[in-house]
Amino acid sequence: MKTGIKIALSIALLSSLSFGGEQFAMSDADRAMYAEMLENNPADMMVANGEELLGEYCGGDAGLAKFLGVSEDDLPKYIAGFPRYIKEFKQVVGVDQVLQGLMSKNGHKPFKLKSSDMFDMSAYVKTLANGEKSNIDINANKHMKEAYALGEKTYMTPRGGRGLSCNSCHSSDVIGTVLRTQPLPDLSAKGVAVAATWPGYRMTKSSLRTLPRRFQGCMNNALLAVIPLGSPEMVALEVYLTHQAKGAEIAIPGLKR
Ligand code: HEC
Repeated sequence: MKTGIKIALSIALLSSLSFGGEQFAMSDADRAMYAEMLENNPADMMVANGEELLGEYCGGDAGLAKFLGVSEDDLPKYIAGFPRYIKEFKQVVGVDQVLQGLMSKNGHKPFKLKSSDMFDMSAYVKTLANGEKSNIDINANKHMKEAYALGEKTYMTPRGGRGLSCNSCHSSDVIGTVLRTQPLPDLSAKGVAVAATWPGYRMTKSSLRTLPRRFQGCMNNALLAVIPLGSPEMVALEVYLTHQAKGAEIAIPGLKR
């Protein structure tokens, strides 16, 4: 893994977390723990588990490349462009759904999208693209265009008890504002670049999480109806935000509060 890149990116994140005037997002103790974890991201072990699972259930990197119809050499660039429209699935899918398809093709019962085994395995696959630039193409075909439009709509529409949308807290005019001690993060390539830093290790949850799982965290916190993993709306939301962070250099697993 390209640790140098990872550390540079995470230090940028650390300084953005201390933003927000007197109210710091992290206590000094948390900050010290964060610095220590940078040296040794606990998620590295989970990613290693993911690599083993991919070998056991999917034929490793070679099996995955074959299933996707690309050479092993082209796999990193190809992975850096997910979610994608894949013909066999007849829909736009994330890496985790591809892995489910491959597992079942190989005669295994697919891991659930919400299982830690799936988080580990899809995180490992995403690390194959480390050092590449996130390169999603929302104009690749009409399915991607539709997914982007649906994602934007899902992001902008107030869907909860408090009348909030994702955009209420993540639009460019509120970024950096402090909400209950947490500065509102910029999700684009100018900020935390979600597409390039998830799956990530969440220190507050002591576990590795995928980007859609992180979305569900905000849905729960902000009382927005929780969208199921793998649903067209959820994949579309991932397409929308991945596009906002397009061009950022991928450094996975991220380390998150
Ligand atoms: C009530 C305000 C609020 C709403 C609404 C909200 N968020 Fe958030 N979001 C936050 C805050 C605050 C954080 C930072 C929390 C932290 O650091 O633990 C955050 C963090 C995130 C992150 C992680 C950023 C990182 O560090 O990588 C993602 C991704 C995200 N939100 C996506 C969404 C999506 C998608 C929606 C809509 C479904 C949404 N949020 C709705 C307040 C909100």
